[in-house]
Amino acid sequence: MYARVIGTGSCLPGKPVSNDDLVAQGIDTNDEWIVTRTGIRSRYLAEPGTLSSELGLIAAERALEMAGIAAAELDLIIVATSTPDFIFPSTACLIQGRLGNKGAAAFDVQAVCSGFAYALGIAEKFIASGSHRKALVIGAEVFSRILDWNDRGTCVLFGDGAGAVVLEAAERPGILATALHADGSQNGILNVPGQVCGGQVTGDPFLRMDGQAVFKLAVRVLVDIAEEVCAAAGIQTADVDWLIPHQANIRIIDATGKKLGIARERVIVTVDRHGNTSAASIPLALDEAVRDGRIRRGHKVLLEGVGGGFTWGAALLEF
Ligand code: UT7
Repeated sequence: MYARVIGTGSCLPGKPVSNDDLVAQGIDTNDEWIVTRTGIRSRYLAEPGTLSSELGLIAAERALEMAGIAAAELDLIIVATSTPDFIFPSTACLIQGRLGNKGAAAFDVQAVCSGFAYALGIAEKFIASGSHRKALVIGAEVFSRILDWNDRGTCVLFGDGAGAVVLEAAERPGILATALHADGSQNGILNVPGQVCGGQVTGDPFLRMDGQAVFKLAVRVLVDIAEEVCAAAGIQTADVDWLIPHQANIRIIDATGKKLGIARERVIVTVDRHGNTSAASIPLALDEAVRDGRIRRGHKVLLEGVGGGFTWGAALLEF
């Protein structure tokens, strides 16, 4: 049994915020530095009070509409997020409640920017085992909440948003292969080290990153895992129709595509307009390319993420 994508959806909050808008807000940066180092030209930032569940709900409703199924038919809901509404209940349960679904298994996955790849890999296993038939997988983030707006090395990189897919059990492909990995010894290079204790946040509640260490590791693992899932499916990386890498930095995306032999025209890029939306970046890019007609039925699509933990994951789909 295969897990087949039958609908995609996404949601970006408010209006784009350009690099010059950030300069106008007093951040010590400039458009030239951000574009040259990252490829980012703008990002979407949620209004104060807008929650991941609200963005995820809209993306989910759009994916369900494309899939042509009712929320009540879902038997599995997984949300990938590092910016959940609450410590608990899970963002998946909050979205389930608002969708009016009762009875589906619902839980969050925490794998930072690899979160969507992890959630998709988990959902695929549930469906392939025959235990579940219709799954909603969401990546939703309000990363602007965990940014230190006095740290120009990180605050210009991220944005908010959500993306979702609906999967259905099918006898024809489907997700062809998935792979998930982590190396917890690298937990210090990208983290939010704050804790909640006795009603107070203790420690540092903002995202901290060793950008160059992340950069080097990211390219290596994105190449390795792309080769791993393609080998598992019996194809060459160059045979992939579309590569959708996590959208963190155009230089990481270009280096990865080049090493895999996948031309830039076959790489879906949204980092220039969305920034890095962590677990939302892959489903946002997927939804854009499905809706504008680039990705069509029968295409082979390679999704791959990398992020804090350190984590990395990939899925190869026949769309
Ligand atoms: O999804 C999670 C995955 N995260 C990533 O993939 C991020 C991976 N890393 C990167 O994308 C890059 O390392 C960055 C874009 C974060 C940084 O690029 P870099 O080429 O590694 O720059 P750097 O951190 O070494 O900083 C170079 C210079 C510094 O100035 P000095 O010390 O050379 O005078 C920084 O102070 O750039 C300066 N700088 C800035 N200047 C203007 C750092 N941030 C900014 C900024 N605007 N926003």
